[in-house]
Amino acid sequence: MNILFATSEIAPWVKTGGLGDVAGALPAALRQAGAEVRVLVPRYPALAAAFPAARRIAHLPWMGGHLPGADILEAEGPDGTPLWLLHCPALFDRAGNPYLGPEGHDWLDNHLRFGLLSRVAARLASEASPLAWRPDILHCHDWQTGLAPYYLRFHEIGVAASVLTIHNLAFQGVFPAALLGEVALTADDWHIDGVEYYGHLSFLKAGLRHADALTTVSPTYAREIQTLAEGMGLHGLLQSRAADLTGILNGIDTQVWNPAADPHIAARYDRDHLDAKAANQAALRRECGLAARDDRPLFGVVSRLTHQKGLDLVAAIGDALVALPAQLVVLGSGEKPLEAAFRELATRHPGDVAVTIGYDEALAHRIEAGADIFLMPSRFEPCGLNQMYSLAYGTPPLVRATGGLADTVVNYSEAGLADGSANGFVCAAADADAVLDTARWAAGLWRDAGRWRKLQQNAMAADHGWSGSAQRYLDLYRRLRPQ
Ligand code: ADP
Ligand code: GLC
Repeated sequence: MNILFATSEIAPWVKTGGLGDVAGALPAALRQAGAEVRVLVPRYPALAAAFPAARRIAHLPWMGGHLPGADILEAEGPDGTPLWLLHCPALFDRAGNPYLGPEGHDWLDNHLRFGLLSRVAARLASEASPLAWRPDILHCHDWQTGLAPYYLRFHEIGVAASVLTIHNLAFQGVFPAALLGEVALTADDWHIDGVEYYGHLSFLKAGLRHADALTTVSPTYAREIQTLAEGMGLHGLLQSRAADLTGILNGIDTQVWNPAADPHIAARYDRDHLDAKAANQAALRRECGLAARDDRPLFGVVSRLTHQKGLDLVAAIGDALVALPAQLVVLGSGEKPLEAAFRELATRHPGDVAVTIGYDEALAHRIEAGADIFLMPSRFEPCGLNQMYSLAYGTPPLVRATGGLADTVVNYSEAGLADGSANGFVCAAADADAVLDTARWAAGLWRDAGRWRKLQQNAMAADHGWSGSAQRYLDLYRRLRPQ
């Protein structure tokens, strides 16, 4: 089974969120399960620097509109996965992240950047590919490769079946209608069953309509996005494709997120040696300037600071949280007003609230290892990875009952504690009082050392690795292309 994986980010080199983690880990898990995988990703500066010896294996000439010609360079990831780097300096050789320039604004030519990525993905999955290796499946991710299944169906003689995975329906790749020609589409493509979406060009909609199969990253989110409330305007289309839509929970990279072998943390530990967690907590408090107060739990946050994540609710209850008493450590970046609110909270509570605005992979590991309770009260969460990292690190998560959080976190109960199922705290409503009530409850239980230890062990018992999910993707691929 040959899989061409098309993605706009890939950890550890280029990552703005969970999509990068998934693209960094799922291909290796698929290969372990017996598939052949190639990962197509733009050659951003970080990838150019990581793979200076990548060699050119193909040239793709101009493919219409304003999409320039490009080369494919081949490199090998550390786990042996072949990477196909899409080399087009005019579009990808720039500072900033994949979507935003250094000033924080969307690149004005994102339709060309990801139009080209989609177009090339479709070409490499077609009879006209310049490469001998042909995929059975073209697996695309989010709007950035949403046009690929569409191009494959209508603008190429496809040899592969297409799968589109929705990591986050909030991002849809919607552009002005006038850009249609620039991405090599014509009036023939402009209709409700094509790329048109309320008078605009939508990359995601085209893919959702025309991919052979759709997946999203948790079973609960697969149901939620078919509802008016959670479907972000696409629920009707998703309902019409219900038979082709499945939810497959993400895994985590257990090499990278393993407290027994984590190079970023002060003391390594496992389920049977949880005492060492205290050393991580002491080190984290020192690193972040928190007072050494062992009489109160330390809540942790690592997140994009956006409305999705419900962290405005945490900022709103910050003073009450400190009064529980408890401490709070936050690492994140995103919406400026939220960054400011957390900074102010830290200023009001020196020694009890520590806030780092920025993106810091190593500190993220130390927070997972050093906090007592991980806060993730998302309004919606397609899957969420941090709650799974928290489980693996024996840091019970406090989450809201939504999407992948609902599928991975089981609310505390005495029965659940005893039978091993309870592994955290689940708050039903997305409002500040509900989050505070749940936090108070969790902080109370934290004082019961015996119960807390059992809860941590429950959390650490589950295997959140990729192998089960990789198998589910393979089953799906086989249904599309029986071998
Ligand atoms: P999303 O993709 O919606 O942001 P996920 O929970 O799926 O949410 O994945 C987020 C990923 O990004 C995790 O690996 C998390 O550790 C990481 N992350 C988010 N914000 C930061 C940050 N400020 N510093 C370091 N890592 C971060
Ligand atoms: C998105 C979602 C997140 C998910 C990640 C990887 O960024 O917001 O919930 O875990 O994609 O699938």
